[in-house]
Amino acid sequence: MIYSRITGSGSYLPANVVSNDDLAKRMDTSDEWIRSRTGIRQRHIAAADETSSSLAFEASKAALASAGVGAQNVDLIIVATSTPDFIFPSTACLLQAKLGIKGCAAFDLQAVCSGFVYALATADLFIRSGQHRCALIVGAEVFSRILDWNDRGTCVLFGDGAGAVVLQADDKPGIMASALHADGSHAGILSVAGSVCGGKATGDPFLRMDGPAVFKFAVRVLDEVARETLAKCGQRVEDVDWLIPHQANLRILESTAKRLGLPPEKLIVTVDRHGNTSAASVPLALDLAIRDGRIKSGHKVMLQGVGGGFTWGAVLVQM
Ligand code: UT7
Repeated sequence: MIYSRITGSGSYLPANVVSNDDLAKRMDTSDEWIRSRTGIRQRHIAAADETSSSLAFEASKAALASAGVGAQNVDLIIVATSTPDFIFPSTACLLQAKLGIKGCAAFDLQAVCSGFVYALATADLFIRSGQHRCALIVGAEVFSRILDWNDRGTCVLFGDGAGAVVLQADDKPGIMASALHADGSHAGILSVAGSVCGGKATGDPFLRMDGPAVFKFAVRVLDEVARETLAKCGQRVEDVDWLIPHQANLRILESTAKRLGLPPEKLIVTVDRHGNTSAASVPLALDLAIRDGRIKSGHKVMLQGVGGGFTWGAVLVQM
């Protein structure tokens, strides 16, 4: 039987750190409002010459080094992003060229903040089918480019960054189970409803969100999908060592852990330092907790995404 296992992780954050107080100097907001409603203290914002593919490249180099795998061994690249460098070529193809490799399959996957979880579940199926043996899975975003910096209800929430894992074929299960869902009837509560037509951006090319509606939806589906994923592989909530939900809002993370009956000590939180980095948030949090020694070999980690579409999903991983 072929399984897939995470053998390395890496991440990258732009150098420019923007605090809540920095934002309060530019708009009508405050550190107190942002921290009390979201838990966010700061976010990283990409420099003008940084793109999703350049952030993905840095995270990928770190993931490959931690796996002890050369880029030439990678036979599948999936980049989860909603802020690609271009309409095409894909960010995955740009990343492949930056890594100095050719020939392997490479494509982008667009499921907004669920993107990394979708990409990991997809790569698991590619590997278990026997078609591929070494995948590089990346979440990379520059959401700062699609924010309306005059809309204080959204622009304070997001940040830029990238996280990556190497997923390799193994005879023992690493990925234990996954579940993916979408409901397009909720498209309107979180969207960037712009497009390119006749050489111009048309529609509204900024992120718009009904925050309270997204909040309620997220808390419900994160609980449901975690239980569904556990049931698929005969595991119980008590078997989960670490919970890494999409890092959108500390109150969503804490409510999810509470509804599941997991103690807060099992929750990995990075939203305070990174803000919401969309598809990058889960691999960033995973890499941080592996590198600081909390997540160890053998631990069971529940990764969860939820975001625009609406999309949601979970992957239970044994490290
Ligand atoms: O990746 C998935 C996407 N996003 C999420 O998961 C976000 C989910 N939603 C949330 O995190 C929360 O709903 C928010 C943090 C976005 C908003 O928190 P809330 O407690 O639901 O606040 P609200 O939208 O009901 O707004 C409350 C007040 C409003 O003022 P009034 O009308 O009550 O006078 C807003 O105008 O807060 C005001 N407000 C702000 N005040 C200071 C909104 N944004 C700000 C701001 N600074 N940045």
